[in-house]
Amino acid sequence: MSGFWKPGSERPKLVDDEEGGVLFFSAPRASAGGYGYANLERQRLRLPVYKFRTAILYLIENHATTIIVGETGSGKTTQVPQYLKEAGWAESGRVIACTQPRRLAVQSVASRVAEEMGVKLGEEVGYTIRFEDMTTPNKTMIKFLTDGVLLREMMEDPLLTKYSVIMVDEAHERSLSTDMLLGLLKKVQRRRPELRLIISSATIEAKSMASFFSSSKKRSIQASVDNVPQAVPGIISVEGKGFPVEILYSEEPFSNYVEAAVSTVISIHGQEPAGDILVFLTGQDDIEMAASLLREESQALESLSSGLLILPLYSGLPRAEQDLVFSPTPRGKRKVIISTNIAETSLTLEGVVYVVDCGFSKQRFYNPISDIENLVVAPISKASARQRAGRAGRVRAGKCFRLYTEEYFVKEMAAEGIPEMQRSNLASSVIQLKSLGIDNILGFDWMSPPSPESMIRALEVLYSLGILDDDAKLTTPTGFQVAEFPLDPMISKMILSANNNGCSEEAITIAAVLSIQSIWVSIRGSQRELDDAKLRFAAAEGDHISYLNVYKGFLDSGKSPQWCHKNFINYQAMKKVIEIRDQLIRLLKRLGMVPGSCEGDTMAVQKAIVAGFFSNACRFDPLGQNGMYKSLRSSQEVYIHPSSVLFRVNPKWVIYHSIVSTDRQYMRNVLAIDPSWLTEAAPHFYQLQKPYLGAL
Ligand code: CDP
Ligand code: MG
Repeated sequence: MSGFWKPGSERPKLVDDEEGGVLFFSAPRASAGGYGYANLERQRLRLPVYKFRTAILYLIENHATTIIVGETGSGKTTQVPQYLKEAGWAESGRVIACTQPRRLAVQSVASRVAEEMGVKLGEEVGYTIRFEDMTTPNKTMIKFLTDGVLLREMMEDPLLTKYSVIMVDEAHERSLSTDMLLGLLKKVQRRRPELRLIISSATIEAKSMASFFSSSKKRSIQASVDNVPQAVPGIISVEGKGFPVEILYSEEPFSNYVEAAVSTVISIHGQEPAGDILVFLTGQDDIEMAASLLREESQALESLSSGLLILPLYSGLPRAEQDLVFSPTPRGKRKVIISTNIAETSLTLEGVVYVVDCGFSKQRFYNPISDIENLVVAPISKASARQRAGRAGRVRAGKCFRLYTEEYFVKEMAAEGIPEMQRSNLASSVIQLKSLGIDNILGFDWMSPPSPESMIRALEVLYSLGILDDDAKLTTPTGFQVAEFPLDPMISKMILSANNNGCSEEAITIAAVLSIQSIWVSIRGSQRELDDAKLRFAAAEGDHISYLNVYKGFLDSGKSPQWCHKNFINYQAMKKVIEIRDQLIRLLKRLGMVPGSCEGDTMAVQKAIVAGFFSNACRFDPLGQNGMYKSLRSSQEVYIHPSSVLFRVNPKWVIYHSIVSTDRQYMRNVLAIDPSWLTEAAPHFYQLQKPYLGAL
């Protein structure tokens, strides 16, 4: 195949002691004989993890913590909770929990396990993600949930008493919530020696995990005591027989990885034998772009158009489309799944033989100096690249096409990714720890401690929001109330301020819309019509107020799907908005507040938003080019995102909800404000910014 070469064949190999030209990954042979045919029970028995069933159960019985390492697809997530149930860990009302960093993975594995057990999802096997609880009290025995949801549950029940076993899955991902959980669960173990923890991971970070759980400030109880497990973690590696994956690098770097991915898929389809293709891109935008390019190109080449089944995969994808990704490939077709890094380890896809890896993923980065957190398309690590390649070797020998050079892989790619803890805004984490009574946050038992700068920044922001007091304790009532909301603290603060301004209904609508990806339908090639539709709802004050118009229109239409269709609004998203609203209203009432509406007093709503988001204020720079703004805090250059109703309107003062960076830093969800509201909402905060006082 042109453009790629096989390492070790034509060129001398660069030295990388870990990476050979051919990698062996463990892959179950369950599906080797044609997936979709073997019955579920037979498939279960063929998974690599099955051979270790007795050993795993023995370790869990005898050790407080068990670490399970095994390649993606070996059966950790779907099987271990079932083994535990079969061994009696869910008897007498106890529950087995299994956490995942991603919502989509939670739903997908829960429905798979329910299917394998032949039960209805939401009963014996259930799941909980933020704003969605599919469990039945006193019936659910195996519960899948995001690590963030389990953290929230600790606020109600700090010792997590209903769980007999907690499996922290995908620990190698080192998500912010996973890391917090690990530190907190270690504490819980001291108080609940009978609790069993399972840490499962796709990579061999087992040693550092093990030493984390072995080291304890207080000496743990000895194993000789009845019914108390050993404190030293048990470790087990569940290896299966691997299929080789041939790695092919591009000869030259590509300038556009979306186009490169598309042409690679087309040449695989033209030249390689049957087998599905998994393409790793970074997010919804480039995935949709690649999908539409691929559709166009395959239609142009008639021979291709019939054979390819093009399927995007990213979180926020409607359920029906998710299901297509997981259903067996129809005879004579070749699936092309274009995915974010969710398919790297969290989800197992059957039938993949070819992987196309663009070498990037979307990652959260926080800069404590500018106080800007954004999602950036950044290079992946070697560890991720290996995981991605491994997805090609599940069914039989496969190939991985890396859209970067071998030299780049060897010399430039970092060995491991940076834990999310060290590249995130910590405001939410600080609130959660504080509300769990952990006051000395720097002294907390972190797997990898966050930087002091980001910790200080978080404390400063929380202080200026009135969430922490002079002693860095949660304030009453604001701090404790904010901690109750499963939302970003700035949004929670906005809702509480709106409550004081008599417009909590409006603030809750805004919060609900901001907590889903987009309420607009993204249909290929109809940007103009979408823009026209947006104009119908556009408010001069900005995006937040425009959302109120959309919501009102939706209610006035009688929540009509046709109305949504006509206005380029995603009906499913609006239904979700209604659900989230209902939950937030209930929460507000539980906190003793009475939701109210200010009926068109837009300024009251704007002020409430400012009360939460004052630190995201920016000023138009008349000397700058092309609509440049400068952030008040750190004079960062930012621009209004083209999707905003204020794009090209450029009000003098704005605040934003979030930043996305591509070629520039773009503000998403922008609101026009009056600068006097900033000093009104946060006098301390803006007094600090002396150079700007004149400007205000
Ligand atoms: O967690 P781990 O990566 O070790 O494996 P798993 O997710 O438990 O997957 C074990 C097997 O179940 C794989 O062979 C998958 O093909 C299958 N599976 C599936 O068919 N559908 C799902 N939604 C999840 C798993
Ligand atoms: Mg798994």
